[in-house]
Amino acid sequence: MQVNLNEYIDKYKEIVHQELIRHLKQLDIPESLKSSMLYSVEAGGKRLRPILLIASYENYGSNIKKAMAPAIALELVHTYSLIHDDLPAMDNDDFRRGKPTNHKIFDEATAILAGDALLTYSFEIIADDQHLEDFEKVELMKMLSKAAGPGGMVAGQIMDMEAENKPINLQQLETIHELKTGELLTFSVYAGAFLGRASDEEIRCLKEFAYYLGLIFQVQDDILDVTGDPEKLGKSTGSDEDNKKSTYPNLLGLDGAKKHKEMYVQKAKKALTKAKAENSYLMALTEHFSQRDH
Ligand code: IPE
Ligand code: IPE
Ligand code: MG
Ligand code: MG
Ligand code: MG
Repeated sequence: MQVNLNEYIDKYKEIVHQELIRHLKQLDIPESLKSSMLYSVEAGGKRLRPILLIASYENYGSNIKKAMAPAIALELVHTYSLIHDDLPAMDNDDFRRGKPTNHKIFDEATAILAGDALLTYSFEIIADDQHLEDFEKVELMKMLSKAAGPGGMVAGQIMDMEAENKPINLQQLETIHELKTGELLTFSVYAGAFLGRASDEEIRCLKEFAYYLGLIFQVQDDILDVTGDPEKLGKSTGSDEDNKKSTYPNLLGLDGAKKHKEMYVQKAKKALTKAKAENSYLMALTEHFSQRDH
């Protein structure tokens, strides 16, 4: 029988947290680099990407140990992207995960290097894992580097920066969101399903699901940047306005953004049903992503 979503999230949040810390603590590296890496990872965050990967895996497979290394690697890549996203040269934000941003505690150079180290270490974690077959490692590393790299999240980040102070249309905004946020979420869902041996057709439908999930997630991120409570969010609000970012609320208005998000939710749920995942935690997570307040 399924436990409720909050219990599910809490359970895996704890397991993922312990695993993340274990992987970082075992590193024999310069102390300042290790402290800086640990600082941002230990600060927490929702761990939604690993949880999504695990939920996707559990819908198809039964040896949960296989999902752990890619889940940890993904969270490290995500954490690196946040450290760099907050730098003065990018969004210039002071708070993240309820704490001062990495570069506020360490110097900027250390924050940059901590990000680089988290990114590269993530691939070592996949390569060294005992539970994965070699062909699985290669596929995971290929898909993770594609999702995070120059045609994925990094492309989205540069397009996001270049769209500052510029009018863009809805389609262009969707592309930015798909890349900067959707690609890593798509990797979460894909990696779980791939390791669980989902069929090609199920994977095709899951990718469609993940596309909408990425948009839902980032529309809500944009909405929370306007209406959210910084205490709950653990990061500053008003960052998009300060940086003259193109966002859903400034393109469609707050109500328009919420309506658009609802449309994405319906599309995401439909795709999940086609992927035979309507009874998985992915369904409940969709609503959770859409309604989240932090
Ligand atoms: C923030 O991601 C960056 C976006 C892609 C919008 P999260 O909201 O998942 O941040 P954490 O991991 O919980 O800190
Ligand atoms: C960042 O998007 C997405 C990343 C790839 C890190 P945002 O800049 O909107 O994320 P927040 O609002 O700072 O968390
Ligand atoms: Mg940004
Ligand atoms: Mg930002
Ligand atoms: Mg944001």
